[in-house]
Amino acid sequence: MQFKYHSPQNEKEISFINISELQKASGRIIPRDSFDYIRSGAGDEITMQRNTTSFNTKEIYPRTFAGIKTPDLHTSVLGIPISLPIITAPMAAHGLAHISAESGTAKGTAAAGSIMSISTYSNQTLEKIAAAGNGAPQWFQLYLSKDDGFNRHLLEEAVKNNIKAIILTVDATINGNREADMRNRFTMPLPLANLKKTGQNKALSLEQIFDNFLPNITLKDLSKIISFSKLPLIVKGIQNPQDALQAVSAGASAIWVSNHGGRQLDGGPASFEVLEEIAATVNHRVPIIFDSGIRRGQHIFKALASGADITAIGRPLLYGLAQGGWRGVKDVYDFFARELSMVMQLAGTPDIEAVKKAPLFTAH
Ligand SMILES: Cc1cc2nc3c(=O)[nH]c(=O)nc-3n(C[C@H](O)[C@H](O)[C@H](O)COP(=O)(O)O)c2cc1C
Repeated sequence: MQFKYHSPQNEKEISFINISELQKASGRIIPRDSFDYIRSGAGDEITMQRNTTSFNTKEIYPRTFAGIKTPDLHTSVLGIPISLPIITAPMAAHGLAHISAESGTAKGTAAAGSIMSISTYSNQTLEKIAAAGNGAPQWFQLYLSKDDGFNRHLLEEAVKNNIKAIILTVDATINGNREADMRNRFTMPLPLANLKKTGQNKALSLEQIFDNFLPNITLKDLSKIISFSKLPLIVKGIQNPQDALQAVSAGASAIWVSNHGGRQLDGGPASFEVLEEIAATVNHRVPIIFDSGIRRGQHIFKALASGADITAIGRPLLYGLAQGGWRGVKDVYDFFARELSMVMQLAGTPDIEAVKKAPLFTAH
């Protein structure tokens, strides 16, 4: 089997009031098994749902007399200036959402003035995605394979393609129980461009993909990646202050607080619930990137006010891509920028540094 891409060619502006509407509309155009793979989480999806609902455990104080005309969303991370405190999370196989695949997401992300993260399981080559980004900053997300030669090959490709940082994902050493994918007998669409070197030329089930992963990542692996690539290493999938400290002591340049969008350990806390404690433990030694469950501008505000330096968005960007190609991705960025700006105005916070210092209200 060769191709299972979703294929509308359109690159149009899309219209949606909120992400929940956008998700519903995307479910009507993305083929069923692909949509299930994108939307769903592990097990009973309790952790996935809680990722979004837990933002309601804290509230934002309104402030009126701050005299703000237009809030400034600009910030930076690891020395890279960005137009807003939101980046694109790494996700496998963007071809499931749109024929332009990762190139579409990279172009939309660049148009928004932000950073594109590219998954090990991208449908397109790093070279092609870099060309679509047209010089905009890109990070490469590595899943450590049992085959060290393959890991080295991927890191070499990243360096060759001007990647600015490596994201090592540590929360997916085995497959979470994603029941929708089991039911659908989901297989990854081809090509998975980075697997070409391994001679892989048939569709892979998720079990087959995860079989290649190193199940026991250690701190030594982190040091090895840093010394081999000479790039900053971001450790993604941290949900525990202890792990954060260990990663920092092994040389990580940033910590990415994430529970993989609730796709791995169902029964774990919401990512937002562990953010504050991890940020307090890391104590500004390295920046903190936060994702999982963000669907509103107020969620971004609350994450920044709870210790994140920037946030990342997953599924909503694939829904935007499905609807309108790169323009749809840009529209999702614009939606979050609009909502965040409105919240910042109403909260009396003129810029991102002020948001990070804003106290949150807890009623219980
Ligand atoms: C379809 C899909 C594929 C994903 N693939 C990867 C991946 O290849 N590597 C990775 O580190 N995270 C992957 N993730 C997790 C995202 O990087 C991110 O942590 C998560 O989507 C954030 O949650 P949100 O979708 O609620 O914003 C994937 C998520 C989705 C939805």
